[in-house]
Amino acid sequence: MTGPASTVPREKDGRRPLRVVLVEDNPDDAELVLRELRLGGYAPVYRRVLTRATLREVLSTEKWDVIISDHSLPDFSAPEAFALVREMNIDIPFIIVSGTVGEEVAVEAMRSGVHDFLLKGHFKRLVAAIEREIREAAVRAERRTIREQLLISERMASMGTLAAGVAHEINNPLSVVAGNMHVIRKELESMSRHLAAGAVATGGELLARLSASTDSLRESVRDAEEASERVRAIVRDLRVFSRPEDDRRASVDIHRVLESALRMARNELRQRARVVLSFGEVPAVDGNEGRLGQIFLNLIVNAAHAIPEGQSRDNTVSVATRLDGDMVAVEISDTGSGIPPEIMPRIFDAFFTTKPIGVGTGLGLAICHRLLTAMNGRVEVDSSVGVGSTFRVFLPRSHSGRTQEVAEPAAAPVARRRRCSVLVIEDEPALGRVLGRLLAPNKVTAILRAREALDRMRGGEDFDLVLCDLMMPEMTGMEFHHELARTDRAAADRIVFMTGGAVTADARAFLETVPNVQLDKPLDIPRLRRLVEDAAGGATQTGG
Ligand SMILES: Nc1ncnc2c1ncn2[C@@H]1O[C@H](COP(=O)(O)OP(=O)(O)OP(=O)(O)O)[C@@H](O)[C@H]1O
Ligand SMILES: [Mg+2]
Repeated sequence: MTGPASTVPREKDGRRPLRVVLVEDNPDDAELVLRELRLGGYAPVYRRVLTRATLREVLSTEKWDVIISDHSLPDFSAPEAFALVREMNIDIPFIIVSGTVGEEVAVEAMRSGVHDFLLKGHFKRLVAAIEREIREAAVRAERRTIREQLLISERMASMGTLAAGVAHEINNPLSVVAGNMHVIRKELESMSRHLAAGAVATGGELLARLSASTDSLRESVRDAEEASERVRAIVRDLRVFSRPEDDRRASVDIHRVLESALRMARNELRQRARVVLSFGEVPAVDGNEGRLGQIFLNLIVNAAHAIPEGQSRDNTVSVATRLDGDMVAVEISDTGSGIPPEIMPRIFDAFFTTKPIGVGTGLGLAICHRLLTAMNGRVEVDSSVGVGSTFRVFLPRSHSGRTQEVAEPAAAPVARRRRCSVLVIEDEPALGRVLGRLLAPNKVTAILRAREALDRMRGGEDFDLVLCDLMMPEMTGMEFHHELARTDRAAADRIVFMTGGAVTADARAFLETVPNVQLDKPLDIPRLRRLVEDAAGGATQTGG
């Protein structure tokens, strides 16, 4: 139900092309509008539409400069047309031209966001109105682009800060690991040299020497373990923060999120304040772990930035949690500059910042507000200039038991344990080797290629437990699962997948649909041990 086909504008005569959608049932009225446009120097290209369906089709297939709509049509109306434009999220000048309605309708239309309202027969303002609205739409479009770019650059900047902070945080524990490994190797070398050379005279001397060595070895090993545990926590944090597109909701341990955010902000905090934690007994909250991390990182960095560098002894950033009715309250307080009352109403506005260009984009609190609203949470502020500020976040407590992290299986008491045969499919040879040592005296077979593992299992080799890397060259863990399932579904579903940081969208979807247990890398060794014990225990009960 559209009007006559549009004509191609001729620009030779100096007229400006204008692409117009006319929502109009009366061809004569449409012609009046077009005549006015031509008189105003335009060469209009137009479609005339009479129904919602056609308007939708016309708007979604082509780009237009303006919509000019009659107020009431037999099967359609300007308010309905405008609602559709809003619904389709199109920003285009929308002008109502009507002869029949009163002032109240006009006011109501303008209030709903329609750009202008003209009376039929009083077209003098039409061309001016179109020009003004097109100009303003262009400004709005440009602002949107800038806003998008800023959002992107903010994310990049925060990722940059994160990356720098993380590199720094990983460096120290890594140096501890490397240094201790060096000490251990030297000590072991010297022990075997002494033993080989028979350098110790008596059995007593040998024992004394060995026990001195084992003490220092144990210490080195403990330090290295503790340091790698720190690296593991940092890598875990990074994974939480690097999934911004993931908006799944689950029960989230808010303390763990806060600890991650504090670790991430450590570089900003170090020079400025002591961190004071007072965590209450609170239930899990209902939210998205990555987004919550982003919210608290923003608030903690803001708190840090409110405090000048160099007086960390006299300043604090406090993080407290408590239960408040059905909500979990998290308070981030600082002893910083405070927020002057005159800017308080604007701090949650996008782009509002008091920081110099390059330091703040003014998006931090706007993003917090948006993310919190989406999670049915809210934020309140108390501040006093020269004393400090408190940002209080309220989040709905979770009523479901589902947590984002797979719950740890309790270690089953196993009466008779037998040695377990474990297959490790992992393209990193050193990881395969260390799993062999960790899981001894269980029999560990490490294979670098999933294809080979598949052939051996199909050839009749049997394993109590299969640990398989997810992302591998040639055949991935997913393909391995798929292939194995064709001959032995139960065995395929018993595979334990080891997952590193870079999980593709496909892999994530895969992991959500299969029942398999997942182990995040770096591996949680006690949990791995329990899995092996369970496999051994299960094998004892069923297989004898
Ligand atoms: N804890 C605080 N103490 C004092 N002022 C604050 C605090 N938190 C926010 N503000 C004020 O609110 C403004 C807006 O904060 P917001 O986090 O939205 O942006 P920003 O920190 O300036 O920039 P960024 O986009 O990098 O976060 C800040 O510029 C600052 O003036
Ligand atoms: Mg900020």
